[in-house]
Amino acid sequence: MQWDTILLEKRNGVGLITLNRPKSLNALNTQLISEMNQALDQLETDPEIGCIVLTGSEKAFAAGADIKEMVELSFPNIYFDDFFTLADRIAQRRKPLIAAVSGYALGGGCELALMCDFIYCAENAKFALPEVTLGVLPGIGGTQRLTLAVGKAKAMEMCLTARQMGAQEAEKSGLVARVFSQQELLEQTLQAAEKIAEKSLISVMMIKESINRAFEVSLAEGLRFERRTFHSVFATLDQKEGMRAFIEKRPAKFTNR
Ligand code: CAA
Repeated sequence: MQWDTILLEKRNGVGLITLNRPKSLNALNTQLISEMNQALDQLETDPEIGCIVLTGSEKAFAAGADIKEMVELSFPNIYFDDFFTLADRIAQRRKPLIAAVSGYALGGGCELALMCDFIYCAENAKFALPEVTLGVLPGIGGTQRLTLAVGKAKAMEMCLTARQMGAQEAEKSGLVARVFSQQELLEQTLQAAEKIAEKSLISVMMIKESINRAFEVSLAEGLRFERRTFHSVFATLDQKEGMRAFIEKRPAKFTNR
């Protein structure tokens, strides 16, 4: 398949999608979002793939939704098209997604990173939701997911003032899981992704689903969901293999069955 706006590679059970519109700092236009979803469709149905990494360039993970594409849109256009619905599909993926963020993650770029299961970033990363400066507001989940990640005070301040948050503050605030040097970022992210891809995809997907429940339902419901999911994993061969391998002091060989 020929891609114009992304690059797609596979390595040791990991799918790597690199946003590739360097002239516009990886601004998310309709084509890029569509290609990203097609690539994700491929990776989700590929039995060899157990984890997916999204990354951009050194200068920009993504500088936002494409302002040049949006400027002349009208309310009826975007309302009837349900603009950005395609982007929501990224958050609905079932395999784990890691964002490796270097440079700008602004507006839709920050929201894309927030749609991933966790974020690793480089020391030069800058996160912001600057839509207020354009006379609009975040439209791909930023007001919700940033608030869940860093709490109301910082989310309000960032969305209302457009302030950029650097890597250290992002780590301290719970927005990113870890910070690496520029040189190490991608390699460290791929290593973490490979570690995930070695595990039973069944338990990995169940963990993702269960943690995401914490944002949707009450604690009692979330605990019930986790417990039932835990019970069901005993119907898999991977549970037997994982536990037997521990007892037999050897690495587990998971088959996703
Ligand atoms: N959309 C379209 N084009 C963009 C873009 C965007 N979001 N961000 C950057 N570009 C383009 C610039 O227009 C420029 O193109 P030309 O060479 O044709 O002029 C090119 O990328 C390089 O950008 P700059 O010359 O501005 O580079 P810089 O290093 O001086 O500044 C920057 C970098 C601070 C990231 C600056 O480009 C910038 O502020 N970009 C816009 C950030 C923004 O407002 N993002 C939010 C978008 S709205 C949104 O995302 C809505 C939503 O919730 C989904």
